[in-house]
Amino acid sequence: MTDGKQTDRRSQAWFGASGRSGMVYRSWMRNQGFGPDVFDGRPVIGIATSASELAPCNAHLTRVAEAVKRGVWQAGGFPLQFPTMATGETLMRPTAMLYRNLMAMEVEELIRANPLDGVVLLSGCDKTTPAMLMGAASVDVPAVMVTGGPMLNGKYRGQDVGSGTHVWKFEEDLKTGRMTQEECFFAEGCMARSNGHCMTMGTASTMACMAEALGMQLPGSATWPAVDSRRMETAQAAGQRIVQMVHEELRPSQILTREAFENAIRVNAAIGGSTNAIIHLTALAGRVGVDLTPEDFDTLARAVPTLVNLMPSGKYLMEDFCYAGGLPAVMGELLHGGLLHGEQITVTGRGIAENVADAERVDPDVITGLDAPFQPPGTGTAILRGNLCPDGAVIKQSAASPHLLTHHGPARVFDSPEAYHEVADDPDLDVDENTVIVIRNAGPKGYPGMPEVSNVPLPAKLLKAGVTDMVRICDGRMSGTGYGTVVLHVAPEAAVGGPLALVRDGDRIVLDVPGRTLRLDVDDAELERRRAAWKPPTPQHTSGYAWLYTQHVEQADQGADFGFLRGCRGYEVPRDSH
Ligand code: FES
Ligand code: MG
Repeated sequence: MTDGKQTDRRSQAWFGASGRSGMVYRSWMRNQGFGPDVFDGRPVIGIATSASELAPCNAHLTRVAEAVKRGVWQAGGFPLQFPTMATGETLMRPTAMLYRNLMAMEVEELIRANPLDGVVLLSGCDKTTPAMLMGAASVDVPAVMVTGGPMLNGKYRGQDVGSGTHVWKFEEDLKTGRMTQEECFFAEGCMARSNGHCMTMGTASTMACMAEALGMQLPGSATWPAVDSRRMETAQAAGQRIVQMVHEELRPSQILTREAFENAIRVNAAIGGSTNAIIHLTALAGRVGVDLTPEDFDTLARAVPTLVNLMPSGKYLMEDFCYAGGLPAVMGELLHGGLLHGEQITVTGRGIAENVADAERVDPDVITGLDAPFQPPGTGTAILRGNLCPDGAVIKQSAASPHLLTHHGPARVFDSPEAYHEVADDPDLDVDENTVIVIRNAGPKGYPGMPEVSNVPLPAKLLKAGVTDMVRICDGRMSGTGYGTVVLHVAPEAAVGGPLALVRDGDRIVLDVPGRTLRLDVDDAELERRRAAWKPPTPQHTSGYAWLYTQHVEQADQGADFGFLRGCRGYEVPRDSH
């Protein structure tokens, strides 16, 4: 190697080639004005940009890409920006989650098929972060992520409003007449007043923090607001760093170890992160051969208090979190408590402990300390088992009502979220506050795509009577910004014949979160009779991508990846194209 140029570099199989092929590879690139020197063996860095006007949370990423590009040039690399699909959470039907695996597949194939030595992954909205990490992990060229950053705090009538979280509150206010439709239109604009992703500790912020906790983005990178100049500084630094990572051959497989996932799970507990992290981390672990079980998320997190006081569980927003010290301050605190693997290497080339050595908790009200945490250990996400969820179910205790964490009541069953919504406003609906609302066929295969529909609003008649929460059980997911006593990710799902399919109106359901069980109080013989009579739902799709999805998607406890996408397929492409 001389001056960072290398003839055996991956990209040199293209740009260093002689004869007709080499001519084709170089000549067409030169139509963009690149001189011949860029083909001299310097690291070629892909900048994978999921910018799209259809994914508002990612719309500004082309500007972030410019900053990355500066850094790559500075460090002696050759940057090439390319677009990937963007799974925007707000617009895509039936759910962005249906397309996470498609995006992961696209990212993987684009990296492998092109002359790239390293890649910078620009993501933002919920599914774009796991999709890009999954795709890059399956190729294993050096990779660093830069998330696009959260929006500025929402501001409505002198009050901080959080994206997502306040949608649920405003909906209830509209229903109960506390807010008019005109006020609501105005509030919509107040909630999303800058570029960036949701600024609550929803799934996007959670996954940005997970990328940093795993060691896949630079320290501090998860929390800079999208419009903060330091977001661009970080992006530029990531551009510089990826060139060095190529020289060092520091690959995702060295970073995404079992220890890294254990760190991420504990950080997720400390930030009060989204339940969706369970699915995405499990799927990512499947790409790198780390075996995560649902119980890992419970047992590893149990010793960890929630330190970060952010909506939906608390009161602050990502902008406050950033100014309070950001994720490095949280990780520093966890390290002091012996709760992280400090040696685990990250994209900086250093361990976590070294990365956060200088981190400081600037505002102890936003980022609390282990000595006086925002919420005590053991109040985070719990994994339930029982005859209603043999392969597990999830409940976010911090978003639930304490009095409902042990509860038994009669089931009122709906075969789809739509079936519930049709009657939810009926003043004569046969429910009371003890009823357990069961929503089924919202799982990976059943919907398809496992949408965020589980925290259905309470029946209007109960809301009017002042009821604020009820137990809801569903095989779908919940938005990371949602709240309520909602049992999610029930596996196996109803559409594949999981026990949720066998529940009938009036059956007693017993929820015992401290005991980690969810039971259907119906004897086995009766359940067997019902199972024998059960017929699978008629497939909704017989062709196209949705059909492919239902054929190959795994259950929630496996991360809902496609079975055939598990593992790392590497970066070798033995055959030429010309
Ligand atoms: Fe994109 Fe929340 S909708 S991050
Ligand atoms: Mg979301």
